[in-house]
Amino acid sequence: MQPRFAVFSALLALTTSTPLYVPEHLPNPIKCPIIFDGRIPENQTLASFDTSSSPYSPTYVKGENLTWSSILLLPNASHSRFDTPSRKPLEVTINDASLFRPGGGDLQVGFRRVGLLLKDDKNDPGADAADSGIVTFHWSVKQDAARPFNLSHEYMNVWHERADYAGNQFTFVGGVVLEVDGGTGEDTKEERESWKVQGKSNNVVFRTPIVFDEWQNFAIQLDYVNNTLQVFYSEGNAELEAGTEKIENDNSGGGQLQLGIAKKPTETETVVFDGYQESIQGREGQIYGGVFVENSSEGCLSI
Ligand SMILES: *[C@@H]1O[C@H](CO)[C@@H](O)[C@H](O)[C@H]1NC(C)=O
Ligand SMILES: *[C@@H]1O[C@H](CO)[C@@H](O)[C@H](O)[C@H]1NC(C)=O
Ligand SMILES: *[C@@H]1O[C@H](CO)[C@@H](O)[C@H](O)[C@H]1NC(C)=O
Ligand SMILES: *[C@@H]1O[C@H](CO)[C@@H](O)[C@H](O)[C@H]1NC(C)=O
Ligand SMILES: *[C@@H]1O[C@H](CO)[C@@H](O)[C@H](O)[C@H]1NC(C)=O
Ligand SMILES: *[C@@H]1O[C@H](CO)[C@@H](O)[C@H](O)[C@H]1NC(C)=O
Repeated sequence: MQPRFAVFSALLALTTSTPLYVPEHLPNPIKCPIIFDGRIPENQTLASFDTSSSPYSPTYVKGENLTWSSILLLPNASHSRFDTPSRKPLEVTINDASLFRPGGGDLQVGFRRVGLLLKDDKNDPGADAADSGIVTFHWSVKQDAARPFNLSHEYMNVWHERADYAGNQFTFVGGVVLEVDGGTGEDTKEERESWKVQGKSNNVVFRTPIVFDEWQNFAIQLDYVNNTLQVFYSEGNAELEAGTEKIENDNSGGGQLQLGIAKKPTETETVVFDGYQESIQGREGQIYGGVFVENSSEGCLSI
């Protein structure tokens, strides 16, 4: 039996600064006050991601010398559950040029990397609105058959990283997780073709098969007061259900949510600066939808 969750903050949602247009025939499942809205309006153009007029930072995190409009795609995929009725999916892609150089640092040649940062989500030790109280981070993923991953690698795709970069409160990964990242490193079909959610210590708290022809919807609730983490999940247009109980997790350290692709090398020692990456034929892509962060302090959860 999966527990069900009461949703009683529809009125609170009316008080937020983000008006939502909801035609009566298409119910909008978002019921709680939105802290950060990463959903893509229907009229958003690729060029706008190179400017500050998209929900995301125009600066970070992408291959040195690349523009967002050359990295991102607006795919012809169906809308994800939390994009109804009037938002659209966004695809991030990587190729051999997806090499990131952090400010003043060395080129991270171990990774092929792209990461979206919500532009209002500050990298601070706890002052921004998604770093206190009880907060739920939502996203949906869909696979692009024309731009598949090589799941013999570890793909770290969504995480909330501490402001001091010393760790993540949670991490969402697919493929073969490296031993140094808390995996077995074993290249089995089950390991390749599953999503894993890891807690603060890289402990795997939730695992589900990658579905190659449907949206998969994830939500992670961080309770910063009681230091717990809980995973919610559904497929297609189904309501989210609890994938775990509330699990103890050290949520301290503030930081930022990042969504994209960080393809790790194999046969690596440092992960960041060495290891094996085969040449990517064309591009590899990950389609995202329904990205938003909501305030769950009053017990509210959009399902
Ligand atoms: C999209 O439409 C909204 C509402 O009409 C408008 O405020 C916004 O500026 C438009 N955005 C773009 C990128 O054209
Ligand atoms: C980016 O361009 C600079 C200047 O041309 C070049 O030195 C550098 O190697 C390029 N970076 C990558 C990752 O290709
Ligand atoms: C979406 O479909 C249109 C029309 O068929 C096509 O021109 C466009 O390239 C497609 N976009 C992507 C990202 O596949
Ligand atoms: C979240 O909701 C709680 C309770 O209503 C409120 O005290 C808090 O200020 C809200 N947080 C944000 C970031 O809006
Ligand atoms: C996928 O990655 C593995 C591990 O790096 C590599 O051995 C294999 O050649 C790659 N497959 C393709 C099709 O590139
Ligand atoms: C947090 O912990 C306190 C003390 O154990 C408990 O009373 C409260 O219900 C917990 N809050 C949540 C949201 O679980």
